[in-house]
Amino acid sequence: MKVVVLAGGISTERDVSLISGKLIYQAMKRLGHQAVLLDVYLGMERDDIDGIFESEEDFAADIADIREINPDISEVKARRKDGGKCYFGPNVIRICQMADAVFLGLHGEDGENGRLQAAFDLLGIRYTGTDYVSSALAMDKALAKELFAANGIPTPAGAVLKKGQAYSADVPYPRVVKVCKGGSSIGVYIVKDEAEYDAALKAAFGYGDEVLVEQYIRGRELTCCVLEGKALPIVEIAPKEGFYDYKNKYQAGSTVEICPAPVGPEITRRVQEISEQVFRVLRLKKYARMDFMLDEQDNPYCLEANTLPGMTPTSLIPQEAAAVGIGYDQLCQKIIDMAFED
Ligand SMILES: Nc1ncnc2c1ncn2[C@@H]1O[C@H](COP(=O)(O)OP(=O)(O)O)[C@@H](O)[C@H]1O
Ligand SMILES: [Mg+2]
Repeated sequence: MKVVVLAGGISTERDVSLISGKLIYQAMKRLGHQAVLLDVYLGMERDDIDGIFESEEDFAADIADIREINPDISEVKARRKDGGKCYFGPNVIRICQMADAVFLGLHGEDGENGRLQAAFDLLGIRYTGTDYVSSALAMDKALAKELFAANGIPTPAGAVLKKGQAYSADVPYPRVVKVCKGGSSIGVYIVKDEAEYDAALKAAFGYGDEVLVEQYIRGRELTCCVLEGKALPIVEIAPKEGFYDYKNKYQAGSTVEICPAPVGPEITRRVQEISEQVFRVLRLKKYARMDFMLDEQDNPYCLEANTLPGMTPTSLIPQEAAAVGIGYDQLCQKIIDMAFED
């Protein structure tokens, strides 16, 4: 099968996406597919595009390991010779249209917020993961929380602030401040007083025009993937220091992930049930990963749903799949196969 693995882009999660993309691309090749790894924003300029799927080249050769800090997007934008007015880089649409399916290794706003999915629907390009409506619902944490509340899904109390409006929020300290349409914990701050709150708001508004101020849930962190409507075993995430921020997410060894989570059958079942409910409420399809906090009284709170969850060496969905005997390559094949089911 001809498969494009689409990664990169210009979201704050660019580097994470490139690592996901590299691993997925290598899996596709091991599975015997004719695979091309393509940066959605930088594209590919060369003379042999028509024969690109027959190329013996290693398209992942230049992808470096993930750094501790998120990437400089202005530097990436400056690399587009055509000025970058169109999000899709040179030949991206053409190569994607030549493929049987596009494996989305993208993370963050463009790529995960539904706009790319809607464009691909109109361009006749088959892609992995959920559709454009559910992508948009899940990417907007404020909107998702409204749907959680309306459907009895437990989620931390919170308020949405818009840039330029009053910044008071009726949420006790410590609070969590997070940009509404973010990911990888970029633009997420845990604050203990007014001074930290003001600084966090300023920083969060640097990433987007809407910010969520949430009740901080002290306790354990859990996550649960849903594959075709059914929950996988859950994972407990225990960072060795601090919370599950960008560094703790992607630096190997900085967080202990335990799967299945040692929380007993009752909490496991409850978190799995809520995850399946979130999947239905947000109209999700194919697969997604829900993030949770479990408070000191063992009450779970859903933080968010991720529609294109990470596929890096430290990522969680591969660990959950492994717990039911599905290896990385098999998981990638399953995700591709689901792209052919309507
Ligand atoms: N209300 C909260 N209480 C406690 N910790 C939180 C809360 N919200 C977020 N966090 C911490 O911040 C991390 C990132 O938040 P999350 O809402 O999942 O956004 P992202 O899309 O960046 O993953 C979580 O994995 C968790 O460690
Ligand atoms: Mg999260």
